[in-house]
Amino acid sequence: MMQDHAHATLTGLFALMLLALGQAGAVRAEDDVERRIDVLLARMTLGEKIGQMVQINAFEGRIPDELRRLVREGRIGSMLNEIEPETSQELQRVAVKESRLGIPLIMGRDVIHGYRTIFPIPLGQAAAWDPELVESCARVAAAEASAAGFHWTFAPMMDIARDPRWGRIAEGFGEDPYLASRLAAAMVRGFQGDDLSSPHSIAACAKHFAGYGAAEGGRDYNTAVIPEGLLRDVYLPPFKAAVESGVASVMTSFNEINGVPSSGNAFLLRQVLRDEWGFRGFVVSDWDAMTEMIEHGFAHDLKDVAVKSLRAGVDMEMQSPAYAEHLAELVQAGVISQDLIDQAVRNILRIKLRLGLFDGRALVLAKKPGPPTAESMALAKRAAIESVVLLKNERRLLPLPRPNASIAVIGPLADDPYEVLGTWNRDGQPEDTVTPLAAIRSLLGAQAKIRYVAGLPSTRSRDRSGFAQARAAAQSSDVILVFAGEESILSGEAHSRAYLNLPGAQDDLIEELSKTGKPIVLVVLAGRPLTIGRVAAQSQAVLYAWHPGTQTGSALADLIFGLESPSGKLPVTFPQAEGQIPVYYAHKNTGRPPEKLTLIGIDDIPPRSKQSAPGDASRYLDIGYLPLYPFGYGLSYGEFAYANLRLSSTRLALGDTLRVSVDVSNKGGMQADETVQVYVRDLVASLTRPVKELKGFRKVRLKPGETQSVAIDIPVASLGFHNAAMRYVVEPGAFRLWVGGDSQSGLAAEFEVVDK
Ligand code: NOJ
Repeated sequence: MMQDHAHATLTGLFALMLLALGQAGAVRAEDDVERRIDVLLARMTLGEKIGQMVQINAFEGRIPDELRRLVREGRIGSMLNEIEPETSQELQRVAVKESRLGIPLIMGRDVIHGYRTIFPIPLGQAAAWDPELVESCARVAAAEASAAGFHWTFAPMMDIARDPRWGRIAEGFGEDPYLASRLAAAMVRGFQGDDLSSPHSIAACAKHFAGYGAAEGGRDYNTAVIPEGLLRDVYLPPFKAAVESGVASVMTSFNEINGVPSSGNAFLLRQVLRDEWGFRGFVVSDWDAMTEMIEHGFAHDLKDVAVKSLRAGVDMEMQSPAYAEHLAELVQAGVISQDLIDQAVRNILRIKLRLGLFDGRALVLAKKPGPPTAESMALAKRAAIESVVLLKNERRLLPLPRPNASIAVIGPLADDPYEVLGTWNRDGQPEDTVTPLAAIRSLLGAQAKIRYVAGLPSTRSRDRSGFAQARAAAQSSDVILVFAGEESILSGEAHSRAYLNLPGAQDDLIEELSKTGKPIVLVVLAGRPLTIGRVAAQSQAVLYAWHPGTQTGSALADLIFGLESPSGKLPVTFPQAEGQIPVYYAHKNTGRPPEKLTLIGIDDIPPRSKQSAPGDASRYLDIGYLPLYPFGYGLSYGEFAYANLRLSSTRLALGDTLRVSVDVSNKGGMQADETVQVYVRDLVASLTRPVKELKGFRKVRLKPGETQSVAIDIPVASLGFHNAAMRYVVEPGAFRLWVGGDSQSGLAAEFEVVDK
């Protein structure tokens, strides 16, 4: 016993020593980087310093002499989109070997959900509720992109989006700050690895700072008006999590926020990012976002732009010329201090040094990767499988039996290798894609009767000439599989939509098919939640697959035919109709919450009614108040039951951690994964709190008949909010908690936070 104790103490001491040594090593490495920056800064001319702050876009074809000269003179610090490894290499050689101080360029590209291997769009990855998966996908993307000569990606995007009209909802992790924070941190870890200087790591970029997803009306680039408390409680947490994970860079957003464009926003870039969070990387503006401050009505001209952005804390300018053209004269005129320039350059050089660019990495021969390896294909398949959400499964139509299958495969996306790769697919190749039709054919083999008719040439098409053939194929089959949705170009930057139905004549195609009376399995491939109420009602099963990437078909075939169970959960609320937007689960209760009252619908109000309708409450007369599908929702081929909710304590102090335990059983006949979610409400507070907020989740795998006790820890410190004085506080008092498989169901309990 004594011996054991002594042994444990020694082991503990040894671990502490190692930790201390590790920490000391890290501090030494950091000091070393700062010393190297001091040496460089002391030797740099003002022109060379400003050069580090300039990023330009790639040129096609031969390197222009002018560009060569600029790089040689140290007038450019970074390039984006230089995709030919040879050109990139040559420019890097000029920077390192021919410029006076040999400072390498940092080469950036939008590697958003994969480089050559395309993983599900970020919103799809979010539906997997699996940080480790997100990290692994980013790791593969980093390895492929770094092999091609890139050192930096403009990802992850972590803008909270509560408006599916906004096309860029596809690029982020959805509506919830907690889920988005976990996934943003995971993606940063994946891109950057443990060591930024590893040849397989690339610098990540937290974007778009901040509030971009709150664009009014969901119209891209539009104004965001966000009270500071909401900003701090909802929009900023993913960025904070990224900074805590060591993200190397941050990108400003296009929007103005409360009247101040992000690229001129000292509150965000200096006060919050640097002073409060201690960010040590560098800030890059978004493409032309600095000069757009003129259009915003925030700056007079380019010179004014340069002053405002530098003072606000933008270190590097993407694409536009304000810094290159005006910083030198501004310093000479004494408007801008050398010190501000030095700070910006220091931030940039720090990341270049940490990336190992000065230590040989810049000149490593780059080569575009070939087709995805078997391992990355396997990961892409796992990611696609985990991202798909089963929204409906009437009479357990899915999974379909494989023997003697007789199926009609219909829809514009059934055999399209490009559109399913989604927005921001820059380097993925359609020839790598496994389409649903190809995968179904290969899974079912020659015996199966598969009748394929696209029905529509594209998702936007209104050409009904293929309907009759599609209907005939459906009529002669046992089941209809419809692959509908949105082409990749309909989501992403500048691609907001006011109508969120399936585009083109897809609704009509499904209606036509439904007339056969054959069961329909609808698979939706889209970059955002769509208003699929009508077509979902005409279908017996619905799988929401987002844009799943390279392994779209293999993943969907495995799910449809039951080799795997769906396990995705919605990372965003699905509206019934556009007029209901914004609709999100963490809303406030209002003084007249609708669930308390018997509601009357628009058709039931008597004519010439003077009286207001019974059930005056916060809802719509025509569609009520419920979403089509709530946040966190997703069915499975398993059948999960929750029981025996336990709290470690029902009275907790501010520093405590609440352990929530629940027994989850799979009463179904198939092994399946369930994501157990914990939501909390602070019942009475000095500022009203949302009706529910996600505070923890855990994904578990359960065999048929298996029960697991699942424990999730919730630090009391995470239950706070920013009060009227903008202080983060956890206010003592009563809280309610729910544990379940989505945001609208679950077992409930109460606990109290006490101030002791
Ligand atoms: C503009 C987009 O907003 C941003 O997300 C992207 O990284 C840059 N362009 C560079 O392509």
